[in-house]
Amino acid sequence: VKRVTTHTIQQMKVDGEKISMLTAYDFSMARILDDAGVDILLVGDSASNVMAGHETTLPITLDQMIYHASSVVRAIKRCLVVVDLPFGSYQGNSKEALAAAVRVMKETGAHCIKIEGGEEIIESVKRIISAGVPVMGHLGLTPQSIYKFGTYAVRATQAAEAAKLITDAKLLQDAGCFAIVLEKIPALLAKQVAEEVQIPIIGIGAGKYVDGQVLVMHDLLGINKDFKPRFLRRYLNLYDEIYNAVQSYVKDVKDKDFPNDTEQY
Ligand code: KIV
Ligand code: NA
Repeated sequence: VKRVTTHTIQQMKVDGEKISMLTAYDFSMARILDDAGVDILLVGDSASNVMAGHETTLPITLDQMIYHASSVVRAIKRCLVVVDLPFGSYQGNSKEALAAAVRVMKETGAHCIKIEGGEEIIESVKRIISAGVPVMGHLGLTPQSIYKFGTYAVRATQAAEAAKLITDAKLLQDAGCFAIVLEKIPALLAKQVAEEVQIPIIGIGAGKYVDGQVLVMHDLLGINKDFKPRFLRRYLNLYDEIYNAVQSYVKDVKDKDFPNDTEQY
């Protein structure tokens, strides 16, 4: 199989082929997603929410991200694997940022990293890229800044924040980022960014005029029972499927139906 690289996805933008990206945190799911033909797997710090059960992405550690990322990398044959640098590992000190990126690359075998923010973190972006590590940007609703925003509502609906977002996207491009995630912003703003920069723009809740889409795997599969934002399309109700399967198992055990004569030695 031909591997997806940062160059492949740049070419997809040029060709007008949309880029598909999903989160993955473990070997078994990553194997299915890779086999099913997704282009990019993101080892997101959303693992803090969906794997560890934290309310925000802030608590997850670099060691925990490395555990998830190395599990994912062992599963893949084709996907480009991007790993989120966690909160606190890159803001404010570009030397520490590079050290965190180097740990991810050496200890997981992943292909690139993602960090949140624009102008505030541009020195870290440049330093990581100068070491030969491709960087994906992330603007808009950046969950590591949730306590600054105070809410998970749509970002950049006002002119000043929209203008800063466009400036930041160009800064990230000029610093050498190979792609940018835009999260939960108006579709027309995302369209403008996708038109004004040459690197691929991958949206989540950013509408249809961008170069690709990303979703959290648990959301797409309907594992999070009550999470139903407007931007999410659910392809399964896996909560119900698993619930029913487990209920059947419990019943079969209680009823002495499982195991039967052919299911024993
Ligand atoms: O951590 C994550 O899942 C993400 C995506 C929502 C883009 O950053
Ligand atoms: Na993330």
